[in-house]
Amino acid sequence: MNVVAGSLVVLAACTGVLGQSLESKDLMHRAVLDQEGKFVMLWTPRDEDIVIEVQVATKGYVGLGFSPNGGMRDADIVLGWVNGEGKVTLEDRFATGNSEPRKDKLQSVTLLSGFENDTHTVLRFSRPWATCDDEDFELSGDTVRVIWAFGKDDQIAWHEKRGTKSMYLQEPQFSLPTLGNDVKTWDLVSDNISLPDDLRTLYWCKLFKMPNITKKTQIIGFVHHTVLYECNLLIV
Ligand SMILES: *[C@@H]1O[C@H](CO)[C@@H](O)[C@H](O)[C@H]1NC(C)=O
Ligand SMILES: *[C@@H]1O[C@H](CO)[C@@H](O)[C@H](O)[C@H]1NC(C)=O
Ligand SMILES: *[C@@H]1O[C@H](CO)[C@@H](O)[C@H](O)[C@H]1NC(C)=O
Repeated sequence: MNVVAGSLVVLAACTGVLGQSLESKDLMHRAVLDQEGKFVMLWTPRDEDIVIEVQVATKGYVGLGFSPNGGMRDADIVLGWVNGEGKVTLEDRFATGNSEPRKDKLQSVTLLSGFENDTHTVLRFSRPWATCDDEDFELSGDTVRVIWAFGKDDQIAWHEKRGTKSMYLQEPQFSLPTLGNDVKTWDLVSDNISLPDDLRTLYWCKLFKMPNITKKTQIIGFVHHTVLYECNLLIV
């Protein structure tokens, strides 16, 4: 793998945790889980819980789960659907294998809103990070395998489509502040470094010449490090 490692001198501020209000239509993060853009997940991590919205191109049922390995076995699954009368159902379930997940004794998801239009089913719910229910998966700051599925109708027996994606749910929101005209950035770039595959950590040193600075200047921010994750797609 060839990676261009570098650091960019620029100010990045973290805006912290969003308020508890659910008024805001826009959730913090958005990810398309499938290749056709039919399954979209939006979410906002909060202190105690996570708010998730799924927007799925189906009028059938929708499932979103957290799985130890990307498969259905032992996955913690939220299943929901909107019936012909517009009644929304959302259930906290648990899969023991590749069969219809059964309902948890303790329901740990809270339906916030849901509807179905001519093309989509949209469900918004919250769920605590830790539910103290051993039929649930404890969500944390670790990367989690999210599994998704949806059906043609509200019969749960068959998936129309399904898949899995590794996601980092506690990702905070970063926003770049507007920088004044007097702010300059300086890119420090090391070209074309091959990372050896037998080393856990590679330190690469390089000397850079400072830009000419003629008056007193302050460094107001820098990128300390960036992290790249390698994800293995597990097809079951
Ligand atoms: C149904 O809702 C989805 C999600 O909000 C939206 O993208 C889509 O355009 C809507 N479709 C119609 C026909 O209104
Ligand atoms: C990058 O490094 C590799 C291996 O040292 C070399 O074969 C390749 O030509 C280099 N590419 C560039 C764009 O310098
Ligand atoms: C930076 O300053 C040095 C010394 O004054 C000068 O020789 C050099 O040409 C300057 N470089 C640039 C890019 O302005």
